[in-house]
Amino acid sequence: MGAPAEMDRCPIMATYGAPTVQFVRGQGSWLWDRDDRRYLDLLSGLAVTSLGHSHPAVADALCEQSRRLLHVSNLFGTEHGWHVAATLDRLLGGGGQVFFANSGAEANEAALKLARKFGGRGRHVVVSAYGSFHGRTLATLHATGQPAKHEAFQPLPEGFRHVAWSDLDELEASLDDSVAAVLLEPVQGEGGVNPATAEYFSGVRRLCDERGVLFMVDEVQTGLGRCGRWFAHQHFGVVPDVVTMAKSLGNGVPIGACWARAEVAAVFEPGDHATTYGGQPLATAAARAVLAVMEAERVPERATTVGAELSARLAALPEVRAVRGLGLLLAVELDVEALGVTAGQVATLLSDRGVVVNAVTPTALRLAPSLLITPDEVDLAVDAIASALADLGTAGAETT
Ligand SMILES: Cc1ncc(COP(=O)(O)O)c(C=O)c1O
Repeated sequence: MGAPAEMDRCPIMATYGAPTVQFVRGQGSWLWDRDDRRYLDLLSGLAVTSLGHSHPAVADALCEQSRRLLHVSNLFGTEHGWHVAATLDRLLGGGGQVFFANSGAEANEAALKLARKFGGRGRHVVVSAYGSFHGRTLATLHATGQPAKHEAFQPLPEGFRHVAWSDLDELEASLDDSVAAVLLEPVQGEGGVNPATAEYFSGVRRLCDERGVLFMVDEVQTGLGRCGRWFAHQHFGVVPDVVTMAKSLGNGVPIGACWARAEVAAVFEPGDHATTYGGQPLATAAARAVLAVMEAERVPERATTVGAELSARLAALPEVRAVRGLGLLLAVELDVEALGVTAGQVATLLSDRGVVVNAVTPTALRLAPSLLITPDEVDLAVDAIASALADLGTAGAETT
């Protein structure tokens, strides 16, 4: 499926593969394509629509706000940003301040600039992990520990260093006097859904304290209940200096945020950083409604309970080698040799059968369903994945 038939050439740059499905509406855990076919969405726009599609409280907030005031410059105060920032600060344990951005990459850009200003001249290097993902702007791309993604865009901004994931010795060896901050995800999402451990994160905290280096945690994919705590690092008993978030904060409305403890936040003075849209009335109205629903629905508890059930049921399937992740951010590691197909082919078959997942590696499917997914929908999800894998297993056995 490409551009509409009336267009003789595709007007959109080819940064994504040609889409196979075009969705036109959504409700809760369900999406409908342009032929009115229904799909069970187990991906949530990559961990974005955590309250499901078209949540009425978010829709009402958007309608109401769009009729009152869509946008004013950040030169002026607006109604919702204070509340959203105060709620985020409370959920993070308090004592910090927030900068609003429009995306995950921009939230991380704010963190990188904070680290540079906090570190001062000569102390500007940010250490991150191989396998990480922090965004696609030039700086966040260099923070992203995937060298293959860097090549076409060299030279990238100076001041980034990568170490092996979950290796405290290598991290310690990298922390010389030029390092301002360590930036890590609590679960490497794009890197394959690889959770950190409490031992690793507490070791990083200790090293950062010993060296006077900031510990910055990228919760763009993991934050706001998805992993069974308000923020996934809270599983590990550490308090970071900086936390970034985005995806689920607007439930589909673009908004990101960079929180820093007050002493770090204080290095930003008027004029140091800015964005036209960050924290504008429409986006913060959505985020305020999202946070109110998330608190009322106790989404972290739901993610824990439903995540445990989904993991256990999927791990019991004969074609599944293991299920990893935290809460409702899961990777289902498939026995691709026995199945004779890649995880990408399994994702395509599931899409043909009306279930949305993605292949996070060639051998694993990623699941990030709505945190409000119902028990019936969990049953449907498990049944659909089980029958797709069983059919592939049978087909594989017949061809060998
Ligand atoms: C951990 C993490 N950081 C940053 C980003 C970049 O966010 P955005 O695509 O909103 O710029 C992503 C996107 O997937 C992410 O998963």
